[in-house]
Amino acid sequence: MESALDYHTAHALLEWQVELGATEALLDAPVNRYEIPETREKPKSAEPAAAPAAPKVNPVEIAKQLASKASTLAELEQAIAGFEHCALKRGARSLVFSDGNPAARVMIIGEAPGRDEDRLGKPFVGRAGQLLDKMFEAIELDRSAQAREETLYITNVMPWRPPQNRDPQADEIEMMLPFVERHVALVDPDFIVLMGNISCQAVLGKRGITRLRGEWTEAFGKPALPMFHPAFLLRSPQMKRETWTDLLSLKARLVG
Ligand code: URA
Repeated sequence: MESALDYHTAHALLEWQVELGATEALLDAPVNRYEIPETREKPKSAEPAAAPAAPKVNPVEIAKQLASKASTLAELEQAIAGFEHCALKRGARSLVFSDGNPAARVMIIGEAPGRDEDRLGKPFVGRAGQLLDKMFEAIELDRSAQAREETLYITNVMPWRPPQNRDPQADEIEMMLPFVERHVALVDPDFIVLMGNISCQAVLGKRGITRLRGEWTEAFGKPALPMFHPAFLLRSPQMKRETWTDLLSLKARLVG
């Protein structure tokens, strides 16, 4: 009789039976093989049955659910740390969550950590960060200050450094945005500063920082001011004049 099983499948079945403890190739009752009708079935494929398709995950929905459950900043940081759907996480050394004082009236949202931030686990600690500190010190805001009126809170759209500091991709931004939104809700600042093009793209859905900067808008229900990124100002110091205007505009809102 022609067997419906090919060699590999039969071998695998036999191994399985041996593993279960079978020691004899006998059935419980004798089989009269002359009475078994000859079958001419086509041999089945050697391929093992395909595993049922894994349910499709939607990283944005998962991020929304995780973010909504976080009721403190520590819980939010934990939720981001446990989020496995953003490929950037695997290439980064640190989760860069935030720096400064969550009591601050001003929350800065930058783009993504660079090498220094990845090394130290804090946003804006490299050269651009030093310039950022100087810019805000000029309007008497300092991330290490205690008083709500004098301090700053700083985070980024992306908590992980992209390889070679490339721009984060649209899908990466989309899946991290629910965490940014929750971050803003938990800090509840009076004003948001959007640093650079990527932050504007992520939060406002608009690019073109040269047009957007200095124009107050709304982000996550808060007044928001797009500004030139300090890394851009390091490359184009002639733009510092515009940035000074923007800082004064922020100061005016803070005292007004
Ligand atoms: N640029 C950013 O946008 N964020 C950082 O943390 C560092 C550089």
